Amino acid sequence: GRVCLAYSGGLDTSCILKWLINQGYEVICFLADCGQEEDFKAAEQKAMKVGAKKVYIEDIKKEFVEEFCWPAIQCNANYETLYLLGTSLARPPIARAQIRVAQKEGCFAVSHGCTGKGNDQVRFELAFQALQPGIKIIAPWRDSAFLKKFAGGRNSLLEYASQQGIPVTSTKSKPWSMDENLAHCSYEAGILEDPNTTPPADMWKLTADPKEAPDEEELFTVEFTKGIPSKLQYTENGQSKTVTDAVGILTAANTIGRRNGVGRIDIVENRFIGIKSRGCYETPGLTCLHLAHLDLEGLCMDREVRALRDQYITIAYGKVLYNGHYFSPQREFLHAGIVASQRSVTGTVRCGAYKGHFRILGREAPGSKLYDMEESSMDDIGDFDPAAAGGFIDVEAIRLRKYGVMKKEAGED
Ligand code: ARG
Ligand code: SIN
Repeated sequence: GRVCLAYSGGLDTSCILKWLINQGYEVICFLADCGQEEDFKAAEQKAMKVGAKKVYIEDIKKEFVEEFCWPAIQCNANYETLYLLGTSLARPPIARAQIRVAQKEGCFAVSHGCTGKGNDQVRFELAFQALQPGIKIIAPWRDSAFLKKFAGGRNSLLEYASQQGIPVTSTKSKPWSMDENLAHCSYEAGILEDPNTTPPADMWKLTADPKEAPDEEELFTVEFTKGIPSKLQYTENGQSKTVTDAVGILTAANTIGRRNGVGRIDIVENRFIGIKSRGCYETPGLTCLHLAHLDLEGLCMDREVRALRDQYITIAYGKVLYNGHYFSPQREFLHAGIVASQRSVTGTVRCGAYKGHFRILGREAPGSKLYDMEESSMDDIGDFDPAAAGGFIDVEAIRLRKYGVMKKEAGED
C-alpha cells in the first residue's frame, strides 16, 4: 500500500522514509512550505534518491497566515502568556495539506517523524483523524520495532543512513531541535534541556541580537480591519512601502522585527501530555502585530465584550491550538465569538521597534465612537455629571462598608 510521509529532508525523516520502504510500502513524500528558509529542491532530490515514489512540495503560506495566524491575532491568542503558538498554528494547515495529497495519491496511511513525547504527534494525528476519519497513522517513534532499531538515537540513525546509502548533509547538526515557519522559529531539546543554560548568541536565526540592532528606532504603521491586519506601512532604504496582502504583511512585519531584534522569548512550558519543556522562540512579526492589535482594542472595543472575550475565548483558543484541537467543534464555536468580538476593531496603530523592544506611538479609530476626547478629558466637565459619580460610589460601597464593619468586629484589619 501507499503511505504519505511528512518529510523534512533531515536525517530522521530520511531514515523513516527508507524504513517504510523496507517495510514494503510505497511512499509519497510531502513537504509543506509555510515560509521556512529551506532548500526545497535539495529535499526533493534527497527523497527521490532515498526511494520516494513521488514528492509533493506545497506552498501553504497564504492559508497559514489568513486562516490560522489572523484569528490568533484577532483574539490575542497565547499559551501560558508568552508563547504566541507559532508551531501550534502551523500544524493544522500542514496536516490538512498532507491529507489532500494522501487522498489524491490513494494512500491508506499517513506517517510523520514526531517524537512520542511531544505535542506535535497529538496535533498531527488529531487533525488527520478529524479530516480523514479512519485513516491509518504510522508513527515510527512510537513503533516498538523502530524504537528498538534506533535505540541509540542520532548515532543509530547515522549508522542506518550509511548502511542504506542515505546521503547525510555534512553540516554538523545543531545541539538543539528547530521548527521554523513564517510565524516563528522554535528551539528545544539538546543543550536547552537544562533550563538554566542560557542559549548561545548564535542560536537565534530570525532576529538580530537586540544589542547589535540599529541605534535608531524604526517607525511603522499597522492598520486593522475588524481585528485583521489589513495594511502595513514602513520604510525600506529610505523608500516608503505599503503592503496589504496577508503574507506580505506578516513578511514585512518579520523584516522589521528581525532587524530590530523584537520577539525573542525563553520559557519553560507545560506540554499537553503533562511533561514540562524548555523552549526558546523568536517571533518577530507576529509579536509586533499581536501588541499593536492589543493596543487598538483598548481604543475601540467595548469593555464588557473585551472582558468576556479575555475570560472565555483568549485562553480557550490558545489551549485549543496548543493541544491540537483545531479541527473541532469547540474551535468553530470560539471562532464565531472571535469574529463577533472584532466588529469594532478597525483603526491604525503607529508603532516603533528599537533594540529588542516594540512600543506604541499612537493610535486612531475614526469609525469608533467609544473613545470621546471631550468625555475622557480631565480638564473639561462636558456632559458628565460629577454628582452621578458620587451616587455610583455610594451604591458600590454598600457591601464594602458591611465588609469593613465585620472585619473590625472580628478584630481583623
Ligand atoms: N513547544 C512548541 C509547541 O509545542 C514548539 C514545538 C516545536 N516542534 C518541533 N517539532 N520542533 O508548539
Ligand atoms: C517532537 O516531539 O517531535 C517535537 C516537540 C513537540 O512536538 O512538542
